[in-house]
Amino acid sequence: WGEDGHAIVCKIAQGRLNSAAAAAVKKLLPKSANNDLASKCSWADSLKVVFPWSSALHYADTPDNACNYKQTRDCVDLKTGIKGRCVVSAITNYTNQLLEYGSEPKSKYNLTQSLLFISHFMGDIHQPLHCGFASDKGGNDISVHWYKRKQNLHHIWDASIIETEVERFYDDIDDFVDAIQQNITKTWADEVEEWENCSNDDISCPAIYASESAADACKWAYKDASEGSVLEDEYFFSRFPIVNLRLAQGGVRLAATLNRIFETQSAMS
Ligand code: ADE
Ligand code: ZN
Ligand code: ZN
Repeated sequence: WGEDGHAIVCKIAQGRLNSAAAAAVKKLLPKSANNDLASKCSWADSLKVVFPWSSALHYADTPDNACNYKQTRDCVDLKTGIKGRCVVSAITNYTNQLLEYGSEPKSKYNLTQSLLFISHFMGDIHQPLHCGFASDKGGNDISVHWYKRKQNLHHIWDASIIETEVERFYDDIDDFVDAIQQNITKTWADEVEEWENCSNDDISCPAIYASESAADACKWAYKDASEGSVLEDEYFFSRFPIVNLRLAQGGVRLAATLNRIFETQSAMS
């Protein structure tokens, strides 16, 4: 996602934290954040230029038309071929680091950074084209038109659909977040518990979210959007509900994961 998408995911998440997680997040956030996780949710993107190896941690692409995610096949840095470098293992990795919060001796990791990474990557893994096809770099290599503007397909899902929604339907981003939060407590109330569920031996379950994204990439993102397509109202109106659902799921699952991490932690001390 772009800056807005990440801020939306983090705003939804911070509003759903239990008291242990809310306290830990407040402690870990840098002073400059004013206890607002959303304000730091795109920090990981700013590192791509300085640490190019970190780019691979934002996505997990698949073979053409796979429409599913397989850890051994797909968790790999496309540039170097190094295995285990993708958004799925990044989430597992930073989850494990955060589990050391409050332990003695103090964790050797910078847990402020761990929190900002997991908050960012939990957003990215819910963007369908972050689990798109490796051959077109998750839609980055497919140029299309978004209404009158030339754009690549990846950017349309990262930012353009959200921007167009805010322009047409809402006063500002906060108004949009309010609407998603309303849907979470009303329209999607019966499904939210399932979104939060994760298996007994995992507390972040990123492979599940990657599989969903890979399926959505085929069903919604790539469908009727090939090189040179002009995407306008028909695409916008059928896809924005998917974007809203993925932003909601990202926020709900970031909160659920942080709640499990810090709950576990306070149960140990
Ligand atoms: N580069 C290669 N694949 C990518 C993807 N799915 N998302 C963003 N950048 C990428
Ligand atoms: Zn992206
Ligand atoms: Zn990212």
